[in-house]
Amino acid sequence: MLETLADRLRRARRVTVLTGAGVSAASGVPTFRGAGGLWRSFRAEDLATPEAFERDPALVWEWYEWRRAAIAACSPNAAHDVLARWTRDSVDCTVITQNVDDLHLRAGTERLVRLHGSIWQLACWHRCGVESWRDERVPLAERPARCPACGGLARPGVVWFGESLSPADMNAASNACACDVFIAVGTSAVVYPAAGLIQQARTRGAFTAEINVEATAASSAVDLAVQGGAETVLPTLADYLDLGNRGRSTEAGRSS
Ligand code: OAD
Repeated sequence: MLETLADRLRRARRVTVLTGAGVSAASGVPTFRGAGGLWRSFRAEDLATPEAFERDPALVWEWYEWRRAAIAACSPNAAHDVLARWTRDSVDCTVITQNVDDLHLRAGTERLVRLHGSIWQLACWHRCGVESWRDERVPLAERPARCPACGGLARPGVVWFGESLSPADMNAASNACACDVFIAVGTSAVVYPAAGLIQQARTRGAFTAEINVEATAASSAVDLAVQGGAETVLPTLADYLDLGNRGRSTEAGRSS
């Protein structure tokens, strides 16, 4: 099964990988759904909507500070490393992520679209006109955080339920759907518009695959569903690719 995917990847000119929380699970970052998922213990509507922030900014910040502290203690895993290498070394590989943890960035991923923003980025809640800014302090200097320009409330620079994605990011993600191979890794594929990218890629002729520890909403719609942890499957896939490439260069060496 992995050989089929490796073969498709070897022949592909353009590859796109959509990642979700499962790609960071082996790093210790909790997922949202499934066993141990955040939405099992917390209600999204109390913590991850503009209405929740309006109602109780201190509570929302408390939750984000707790997540920031948890993420700060985590490091990229083998899945992040493989994807980072593909974006650096391979012909044309783009990673689109729904994750706000920045682990792809820390692994050195180059062509990266962060659809849901970053937990390390802050923005003015009142949109006073200041650009969003990075603040990696754990804990933050004050809670709720404040906008350095207007002194009003600052918010986490992530996309909440009910909010639109940045048109530039969505455009970049849509463009990346014009590819030869599209792989969804560690996402339950239930949150749109991100989940819709899989179908978009398929409609545009891509070979679509999924890597996940369990069946998801996308499993029956992709060409190939691989069951397993991203942190083991992606390195194995990378080994297949390296072996294949080595084989090809040896053949080329013999014929010259
Ligand atoms: P979910 O928590 O919905 O799904 C995580 C997926 O990862 C599940 O399908 C798991 O089976 C899978 N998984 C767990 N461990 C894995 C591993 N080691 N290797 C591979 N797969 C593994 O996370 P997302 O799909 O990313 O949005 O969720 C999408 C969005 O919903 C998030 O960005 C967030 C959330 O609510 C907002 O906060 C707006």
